[in-house]
Amino acid sequence: MSTSHIAYAVIGGTGLYQLQGLENIERVALDTPYGKPSGDVVCGDFHGRRFAFLARHGESHSLAPHRVNYRANVHALHQLGVGAVIGVNAVGGIREDMGPRVLALPDQIIDYTYGRLNSFCDVEGAEVQHVDFTEPYTASLRKALLQAAERAGVPVVDGGCYGATQGPRLETRAEIARMRRDGCDLVGMTGMPEAVLAREIGLPYACLSLVANWAAGCGDAVEISLDEIFAHLAAATAEVPKILAELP
Ligand code: HPA
Repeated sequence: MSTSHIAYAVIGGTGLYQLQGLENIERVALDTPYGKPSGDVVCGDFHGRRFAFLARHGESHSLAPHRVNYRANVHALHQLGVGAVIGVNAVGGIREDMGPRVLALPDQIIDYTYGRLNSFCDVEGAEVQHVDFTEPYTASLRKALLQAAERAGVPVVDGGCYGATQGPRLETRAEIARMRRDGCDLVGMTGMPEAVLAREIGLPYACLSLVANWAAGCGDAVEISLDEIFAHLAAATAEVPKILAELP
């Protein structure tokens, strides 16, 4: 395995199963004390730096959000010694300026998930850690991504609260209305526990959210169409490598 330092790891969500533009690729199969990650970590050169890419749901999208082994994924990237992790997540938009095809860098999270293994200290004998999570995303990494997006000419909404739901079903109108009252601007199924695991293990982490649809009851649609989700997601996903290419 190449020992060159991996500056950034990208965890790709729905619609992002490989990183276009990765060269000199090396696939690394890793094992962790928490089990196997979602697949091989694909390492390669990307615009002058070494990147790692991991498909969160597996390269054939076979893992539902609640079945992803978030601990193994984060641990595997930590083992590789990556400098920072960027989680790319498909989301539904709740706030008026978070419509389909918008890219956003949330700065807060509310966790509505349940039954997920959400801590590295959830094993016999592990030391209990109460990590600070006041600011769930790493400020310097968010800033680097915002500046990269600006250099790339890709509009990105700065800030917002990501509500993490259990899935795999989409939400009801009442659930989204409650989430709006709670202060959520975006809704997705994979933002947690990934973010807190990165914090526990000491990895800088930020979430780049891609809006695939208006969340339930937010747009004019009576129901959410999957075809529409995938069309919007494909358009938003195409912008992601442009931003990553401009990272320092
Ligand atoms: N809700 C939850 N997760 C999602 C959505 C949604 O509306 N769209 C894409 N991921």
